[in-house]
Amino acid sequence: MKRIEMPYTERFGEVMSALTSRGLLLGTYDAKGKANAMTIGWGSLGCVWSSPMWIVLVRPSRYTYQCLEHSRCFTVCVPGEELDNACQVCGEKSGRDMDKLAACGLTSSKAAAVNAPDIHQCRIIYECQVVHYNDVVPAHLAGEIQTGMYKNGDYHRLYYGRILATRATAGK
Ligand SMILES: Cc1cc2nc3c(=O)[nH]c(=O)nc-3n(C[C@H](O)[C@H](O)[C@H](O)COP(=O)(O)O)c2cc1C
Repeated sequence: MKRIEMPYTERFGEVMSALTSRGLLLGTYDAKGKANAMTIGWGSLGCVWSSPMWIVLVRPSRYTYQCLEHSRCFTVCVPGEELDNACQVCGEKSGRDMDKLAACGLTSSKAAAVNAPDIHQCRIIYECQVVHYNDVVPAHLAGEIQTGMYKNGDYHRLYYGRILATRATAGK
């Protein structure tokens, strides 16, 4: 899809609507340079330390976690409804076992500003450089979140990705 530069503050409603329905695709490269996409349903787009920022939550069990520990950058790619099936596959299967992009018919190339994949079929892409991370502290969690989200541990690591570029298709 042809995209143009866009202020990161635009199309917020569309992005949140995708995040909370089919999910967004978190793009990373593994240590061998293979592109991977993981569906995310949680994340925060805003301004931190005077920088545009995506904060994403990744459990240590994900292959994406390994990729992020290695590459320290990621893309947040916003799919339209035509990619519903791809979001399901990328939210169930692991890049440890297969090439998910190829399986879903998705193509990618290295993003312009960071070493992470630009998934061509997505409508909006944010290119992010990790500037901080922290782990969920079990003792600091509200009780209902602890019991509802972390029965098996696997506490998320929060990656703070400074947005270096945002590009989007001309319209929805
Ligand atoms: C709608 C949806 C949202 C998800 N959100 C997250 C998330 O925010 N963080 C996370 O760690 N896993 C999340 N997952 C689970 C991962 O996408 C899933 O475990 C995936 O297979 C991991 O892929 P990977 O091993 O290639 O990294 C979500 C799954 C779905 C279906």
